[in-house]
Amino acid sequence: MGIVDEDVRKVRDESDIIRIITEHTQLKKTGAQWMGLCPFHGEKSPSFSVNAEKGVYYCFGCQVSGDVIDFVREIEGLDFAGSVEFLAAKTGIPLRYTDQNEGRRRNRRKEHAEIVQKAVDSYHRRLLEDPGARPARDYLRSRGYGGDVARRFQIGWAPDDWSLLSRELRLSDEDLKATGLGGINKRGGQYDFFRARIVFPIFDVQGGPVGFGGRKLPDGEGPKYKNTSDAAEYYSKSDVLYGLHWAKAEAGRLDELVVCEGYTDVIGCHLAGIERAVATCGTALTPSHARLIGRFARRVVLAFDADGAGQAAAERVYAWEEEFGLQFAVAALPEGADPGDLAGSDPEALRQAIEGARPFLEFRVDRVLARGDMDSAEGRARAATEAMTLVAEHPDSLVRDQYAMSIADRCQVGIDELRRRGAAAVVAGPDAGSDAGALPGTGHLTPETQALRLLIHRPDPISTHLTPVLFADRLNRAAYLALRGAVDLHGARAEAGSDVADLLGRLAVQDATDDDPLGVLTRLAYLAAERAAIGLEAAARSTGDLAGYQPAISFLRTEVIKLREPVTEGAEIEGLLRWLDDHIERVEGVERGVDG
Ligand code: UTP
Ligand code: MN
Repeated sequence: MGIVDEDVRKVRDESDIIRIITEHTQLKKTGAQWMGLCPFHGEKSPSFSVNAEKGVYYCFGCQVSGDVIDFVREIEGLDFAGSVEFLAAKTGIPLRYTDQNEGRRRNRRKEHAEIVQKAVDSYHRRLLEDPGARPARDYLRSRGYGGDVARRFQIGWAPDDWSLLSRELRLSDEDLKATGLGGINKRGGQYDFFRARIVFPIFDVQGGPVGFGGRKLPDGEGPKYKNTSDAAEYYSKSDVLYGLHWAKAEAGRLDELVVCEGYTDVIGCHLAGIERAVATCGTALTPSHARLIGRFARRVVLAFDADGAGQAAAERVYAWEEEFGLQFAVAALPEGADPGDLAGSDPEALRQAIEGARPFLEFRVDRVLARGDMDSAEGRARAATEAMTLVAEHPDSLVRDQYAMSIADRCQVGIDELRRRGAAAVVAGPDAGSDAGALPGTGHLTPETQALRLLIHRPDPISTHLTPVLFADRLNRAAYLALRGAVDLHGARAEAGSDVADLLGRLAVQDATDDDPLGVLTRLAYLAAERAAIGLEAAARSTGDLAGYQPAISFLRTEVIKLREPVTEGAEIEGLLRWLDDHIERVEGVERGVDG
């Protein structure tokens, strides 16, 4: 992609591989080889060797190998072109791009990077020097952040002024907007986006600033935090993790990243000596974040109240564990404490909470059992059943069974009965939550119920794409048809049976503002495609007409694989949705034919 071959070669030839590598590990010359401790895995005696003449490295311990471009790609977490650009910048080699637009886009990003860097410097200097920043300095000091901390994290102060930064940087209107630093008012004048806020610069993986989180002072106006707008061309909140460039070295060494909720949590962790801490910037974890994390570490410790993230989080966690080879654990923070505060009051407790992190499912099961009434037979049965609904969400039957055994043990219930219930919950799928009587703890949010909820609260983005085929659960499908057939929610409830009316009533009082319509739709399409593929495969086997079914089956299988990658535009799944809608009668007919 992108860069002219000849320039790539030039960059490879002219980069000093020894100098690049010694920024990350010490090398000693022995004969023709250079040897040192491998920067990609923890080791005590050197097995990492570099041949300067050939420009290649190889580790006898973990078998990583490559040239200087590969090294930078691995250690900096860059893609190929990014790695070449990184080295080109160091050697001063100008790059030509095979695709004009690509080159222009890259140059534009470079310009924006320089602009945001200037803003970082300006805000930072203000915080340290400006008399008007005194309240900000006092506030930071009251939280234990002196000048050294401000310098280390490049913290700044955006003054209480409508356009000081705009006037200082003298940007074009376009650049001002594209970098998210400001906007244009009704009279055509430039204004600053951050005003009267402490600003925490957000950096990309290489340490280039891309945006800011702006915190108001205690008596300030507006929301506590205001982050660079996601609408700004240069900034994308779902692609950045605050602190990652500081965290990546330790993360790589320990194969673990700690994910916190906020800027001050990350800073607290770093000050407490936990240098593998990052945070999302005003958003929940996205698939892009999970992918990004996977480039640096396999273990992810969530250092926030994981139940705050809710039921929907569980489904994503397991999907990401599988897709990106991650393992999620949850830190056992004292009730109500956040890492930022704990770092100040009791750093040792913070370190212990993170070191004592337990696997995601274990943490949740333990919590349910700890809260249960274990002194009565009824209470133990209830706790066991509730715990099993959590276990049922896990995709691996071997893992589920081990939890079942442990729960049976701790709740003093029969393992066979518990296994039966666990199996029922798994077979029925998470949608069983809406199937009255199947399991306690009804009202589980699933992609299907989430879609219904969106249809009730925010129909615009999703209503045109939904079709009956996307609903596997009888009740959910009935609710969908009722909503579609009625003028409004009240009409739907009046026309429908009481179970549908109940479900709609429950969803109507929930909040859908955070639901992600495209994510929900993608998940529904994925599940429906998988169901259809399984149905067709069964039909192909029972009729013996393999050739007849093959095209449809491979189409669906390909779509399912494609949907494992994050979808960013509705257009990417439209074809599949249409296909499913067109063919559903047939799939259902076939399924019935097989059963009867
Ligand atoms: P918190 O409210 O927990 O803030 O929000 P915090 O990080 O503990 O900050 P301090 O310690 O009170 O200063 C956690 C994260 O949620 C986002 C920010 O990214 C914040 O770091 N957030 C919070 C917002 O985007 N907007 C808000 O109004 C509040
Ligand atoms: Mn907090």
